[in-house]
Amino acid sequence: MAEFDFNAYWKEKLEIVNRALERFLPEDAEGPEILVRAMRYTLFAGGKRLRPLLAIIGYELSGGKDLEGELLPVACGIEMIHTFSLIHDDLPAMDNDDFRRGKPTNHRVFGEAIAILAGDALFSHAFHTIVQSHVPPDRLVMVLREITDAIGLDGMLGGQVADVTGEKKPPSEEIVEYIHSRKTGKFIRASLKVGGIAAGASTETVKLFHSVGEKIGLTFQIVDDILDEIGEKDRLGKSVGKDRESGKQTYVRVFGLEEAKKKARILADSAISEVEDFFGKEKGKPLISLIKFIVERNY
Ligand code: IPE
Ligand code: IPE
Ligand code: MG
Ligand code: MG
Ligand code: MG
Repeated sequence: MAEFDFNAYWKEKLEIVNRALERFLPEDAEGPEILVRAMRYTLFAGGKRLRPLLAIIGYELSGGKDLEGELLPVACGIEMIHTFSLIHDDLPAMDNDDFRRGKPTNHRVFGEAIAILAGDALFSHAFHTIVQSHVPPDRLVMVLREITDAIGLDGMLGGQVADVTGEKKPPSEEIVEYIHSRKTGKFIRASLKVGGIAAGASTETVKLFHSVGEKIGLTFQIVDDILDEIGEKDRLGKSVGKDRESGKQTYVRVFGLEEAKKKARILADSAISEVEDFFGKEKGKPLISLIKFIVERNY
């Protein structure tokens, strides 16, 4: 059997997602022209689309058959929420970053007021998009619950609060775990899970995605911390060295670079074996390859 080509697979899905995003947020979308332009500026600046990819993989592994009608609205809504979180994360009052997805940050181009509103508008437009999915209403409610739990008080937003307030505190294992599992981890976990839920996956499959997704989410953020320390700005498309400068709670700061790398590897290996045990090496390939990318990536 031919080797599974993850890059080709990823590129194909990325193009599908980008085309769908273009449909859900076209240039001539209703609303103030400047707002639509600001939303599209960061949305189409070239993200990796890993969260939509996780949702697609979860859906396909669970036997979903209507990617276009059922899953793409959910996957695109997820990417809009993620993009909103990036625009706000970069604001002067938050991480104060000038560079994102290889371009000047949203507020640097459009000013803070429009950047804040573009983030808000992406957040709102995400739900407008998700509810266009053709999944049966009971599943759609479960999808919405999973997503709102992941981004809410005990999710991304709670994590971002702890991230910002944690800058003033001494490095702490407990704090950094709290921050990472929430600011990034839960939403990544939810991305994989909602793919399964949308396809009507069994309880066992959703449980598996919960467990694997949690490990992927934490691995992802540990690597994000590592790349802030040793990555290249041009490759990453965002500034480096900012975490150290701001005194952020990161895995590198709390555990040291080598230990952080080790922790990411152990988590990723454990996630991979769970996937292999459940789906088998062949069927599990897209997810296994994505986990490998997440732990080995340099951008
Ligand atoms: C960066 O996420 C922000 C974090 C949650 C750490 P990604 O690395 O997925 O960013 P894009 O979407 O590819 O730009
Ligand atoms: C961002 O974490 C998390 C969210 C946007 C919710 P970071 O602040 O570490 O992300 P980067 O490094 O700026 O991409
Ligand atoms: Mg931040
Ligand atoms: Mg940041
Ligand atoms: Mg970071």
